[in-house]
Amino acid sequence: MKPLRIALTKGRLEKSTIELFEKLGYNCDEVHNKGRRLILTIGDGEFEVVLAKAADVITYVEHGVCDLGVVGKDTILENGTSFYELLDLGFGKCKFALAGKKDYDFYHGYGAKTIATKYPNVTRSFFEGKNMDVRVIKIEGSVELAPLVGLADGIVDIVETGSTLKANNLEVKEFVTDISARLIANTASLKLRKNEIEELVNKMEVAIK
Ligand code: PRP
Repeated sequence: MKPLRIALTKGRLEKSTIELFEKLGYNCDEVHNKGRRLILTIGDGEFEVVLAKAADVITYVEHGVCDLGVVGKDTILENGTSFYELLDLGFGKCKFALAGKKDYDFYHGYGAKTIATKYPNVTRSFFEGKNMDVRVIKIEGSVELAPLVGLADGIVDIVETGSTLKANNLEVKEFVTDISARLIANTASLKLRKNEIEELVNKMEVAIK
């Protein structure tokens, strides 16, 4: 049988996902000793893991070159949903928040505010829900810098511990939504490899309870 191929978000989610597979009894030595390799085997060849950046995990699953993916809800909300979301894995927990400089009243005044973010779609839909007109500037990283240097009135970003905001004299103005890692599946794979995928999902559900 061909292995089930899983696209895994590199970094923090990778570590927790591998811990989960080990809890299920699968050998993950190849992942621990991966060096610069990007395709790795898990267990006795039941799974093949592909390591990718978050948005690319979705691309691989949508195109059907990976059957499954592990990706944060933040990336799902930003990049669309032409796949099935099977399971909340319970790790990678954080929040989307609107933040700005301490002592700055974000909702004061009538002029359109400027928001810097790595997540323009999430930001637009959040403010559309409030009927608020905002200007969105896309930033690739360290978004907290934007209000400090005067590029934006606020940011929409991920807050985990809150220490980055605190260290930069910023504060949460409003929480947007909760985020955690999700197991996603390609729509065709879910039909063609239903039994194997269901078996894995059931095992994962028990393990993360
Ligand atoms: C994320 C996020 C915040 C930080 C929040 O950035 O964009 O900057 O983590 O975490 P905290 O609340 O625990 O301080 P990341 O580390 O992914 O780096 P980046 O800003 O370069 O994307």
